Order: sequence, then structure tokens, then C-alpha cells
Amino acid sequence: MEMPSSQVCERCGHELDELAPASVCPVCGGLLEVKHRLIARGAELARGFAARRQELRGPYASGVWRYRELVLPSATTAQIVSQPEGNTPLLERPRVSSWAAIERLLMKHEGHNPTGSFKDRGMTVAMTQARRLGARAVACASTGNTSASLAAYAALAGLTALVFVPAGQVAMGKLMQTLAYGAKTLIVRGNFDDCLSLARDASAALGIQLLNSINPFRLEGQKSIVFEMLEQLDWSPPDWIVLPAGNLGNTSAFGKAIREALEVGLISHAPRIAAIQAAGAAPFAQGFHEHFEKVVRVAPETVATAIRIGAPASWDRAVRAIRETNGVVAAVTDDELLEAKAVIDSAGVGCEPASAASVAGARKLRAEGVIGPHDTVVSVLTGHLLKDPGILVKVHQETEPPPKYANRPIEIDPSVAEVERVIGRGG
Ligand code: F0G
Repeated sequence: MEMPSSQVCERCGHELDELAPASVCPVCGGLLEVKHRLIARGAELARGFAARRQELRGPYASGVWRYRELVLPSATTAQIVSQPEGNTPLLERPRVSSWAAIERLLMKHEGHNPTGSFKDRGMTVAMTQARRLGARAVACASTGNTSASLAAYAALAGLTALVFVPAGQVAMGKLMQTLAYGAKTLIVRGNFDDCLSLARDASAALGIQLLNSINPFRLEGQKSIVFEMLEQLDWSPPDWIVLPAGNLGNTSAFGKAIREALEVGLISHAPRIAAIQAAGAAPFAQGFHEHFEKVVRVAPETVATAIRIGAPASWDRAVRAIRETNGVVAAVTDDELLEAKAVIDSAGVGCEPASAASVAGARKLRAEGVIGPHDTVVSVLTGHLLKDPGILVKVHQETEPPPKYANRPIEIDPSVAEVERVIGRGG
């Protein structure tokens, strides 16, 4: 077994055992970070990761646990709760590249995870840790994807799942997933920020393990998005990694992944992070423009319900991620992200509205000259098209006049003549 890691408070530096059950620093209430004992042996690690790619079963079949030295080295194989997850494709589609005016635009499609979003990568690690701590119940607040993932992994681990979701603001597919996997689902009359605050208080009061991304083990799993994409690029970092940002857990995880990949010598320079928010829920973008002088809070509003968040919990660590990678934060309007989604969808790739912010943001930063014409860019598609189809019903069936990218269904009588009338001979 490898050496255990520790947990360190990001605010006051207080250090805790890896197996301490605290969800925040017991001294000052700051967020905790997992600290690994890293040794610079990049080439050796890379060879080990590559060898594990042959494994079809067991923990190394997971695109998270294949990187276990950098994730949770001391977890034993028997402790790991894995579906498996990860192993997501890096896609390139001319239609999307030309729309964004970026020659080399790749999309890391996290919608290919078992519950349809990147959350599974964090959840496998947080659930493994919860089981190592002997937890009987786990909880989260969610805009829908975290709750679906938590519910599925809790079912796998045999733990009781409790989720808090904002009333009327969760996409139907995500809510149905959460219920189907068997989580006790509380619909809270409030927004996501209210749900998170309640989930934090309730889990502290009732002794339930909180698995939101303030839980540092979630971030350890989400780092594997970066490790896997770097490996797919032969450890030659892209110029930019662009991702949608809401509660800022993923932005923080990406910053830590890049820091550690540099520290162990897997890469020799850092890609720059571009975090993209929806314009109606963009406290972090506003903070960036004000040089992060103060923490910004807003009343969130956007069609991208996954990132409808006004008081992001991982603010400080996300600021660190942006600063360390010479990154940027931008905002895109709902119209811009819906147009990006239409392009991604019609390229046969598909993603949920929030995910399209990463391609809309890349296009915007390219137009502003922040991203150069020959830069290699990886946009992360965080969730599957089927997660949040409500907007598609509007676009493709209801909105009048139809948006330019609408693809209206055509109702016909059951006859070949009718088909021919619609499409003509030879399609
Ligand atoms: N994209 C999707 C599809 C998401 O579901 C989320 C977050 C994000 C991006 C933003 O990631 O919060 O780490 O900045 N969804 C959370 C949830 C809040 O509850 O499912 P973040």
C-alpha cells in the first residue's frame, strides 16, 4: 500500500489525517485540500498509466483510478467504488472548429460517463472515501448532475443517499435519474445556493457525509479529466483548456491537476485555463475583471440550469487555478451558448446547454484575440445532450418564429407519397 496523503486547510494551513471525517477545517471552517507526497518521476508514471490501459476489468479499467498515484494512492482495490467511469473521447469536428474559428479545437466529452456527466469522476473517489470512513449516509445539494451521480454511486456502495435540489430549476432527465437510482430527494423552495447552505448545515447536524465539491476528494477524481486529456495528447499540453464554471469545483480541480502534473514532471509547461460562465450567473467572471479584489455574489439567472449558481463555494481555490495558469474567466450570453449547442449537436456530438458554454467561450476568446488562431484548444463538454432536453423542445418544436438552427419535426400520413412529398426522390 502506498503512503497515505493528508488534508490541509487552504485558509489556515491546519493539517489533518487523510482519514479525518471533517468536511471543512475544524479550526477555521476553511475548505480542505488533499495533499499527496509527490515524487518527480513523470516518465515512469506515464509508462505505468499506459500499461493499465490494457486492463478491461477492475479499478484500472476506470479512467480515474488508472491515475491512482495522483488521486488517492492509499485506497485499496477492495475499497474502490467504481462503475467504471472516465475513458471519455477527445473529439475533433470541422463544423465546430470552423464555427469557433479555431483550427485545432478538441472536445473532451464528459457526457460519456456512466451517469452522463463529469461528476462521476469526482463521485467515485468521494464515495470510496465515504466508505473508507464508515459513512452510512451521503448527501449533496445539486443543480441535477451531482445528485444523479451521487444517487448512482450510493446505490453501488450500498449507502443511503440524500439530495437537495432547487424547486423547478432542475432538468427533468436529471431529476428522474436521481429518483430512479433511489436517492431520497428533497425539493427545496430556493435556489442552488440555498440548497448548498442547507445541505452543509443538515449534514453537519445529522452526521452525514457531504459529497459536494467542497469535499476535497471530489476534486481529486475530477483532476483525472486533465490527466486523461494530457495522456490522449501524449503529454503535450494544449495551449488552452476551456470549461464551463458554476460552483467552481471543476475549475479548482483543473488547477490542482495542472500543478501536480508539473510537479511530478508529466508536463513541462502549464496549459492556460479559461473558465466560462453564463452571463446571468457570472460572479466569477465579474471578479476576474475586478482582479479578484473581492468575492462577488449575484442572483443567478440562465437557461443553463446546471450552472445557475450565484455564490460559488470554491471561489478561493478557483482564483488560485486561474492565477497559476495565467488563465482567464469570461461570460457568454444564453443566446451564444444555445447557438454553440446547436453547432455541437448538429455535428453529431451533442451536449447539454451548460456544456456548450465551453465552445461558445472559446469562440468568444478567439474573436477577442485572447486565444490565438493556431492555439490548440480543448473545450470540455461536461454533460450529455439527453440530460437537459427541455430547451430542445422549445427550439425544435415551440419557439415562434423558429431560431435559425431549429429542426422542426414534420407530421405526415403513413404513405410513401407523403414521404416523397417531404424529401423528394433520392433524399
Ligand atoms: N457543467 C455541468 C453539466 C454541470 O452540471 C456543472 C455543475 C458544471 C458544468 C459546473 O461545474 O460547479 O464545478 O463549476 N453542476 C453542479 C451540480 C453544480 O449540482 O450538478 P462546477
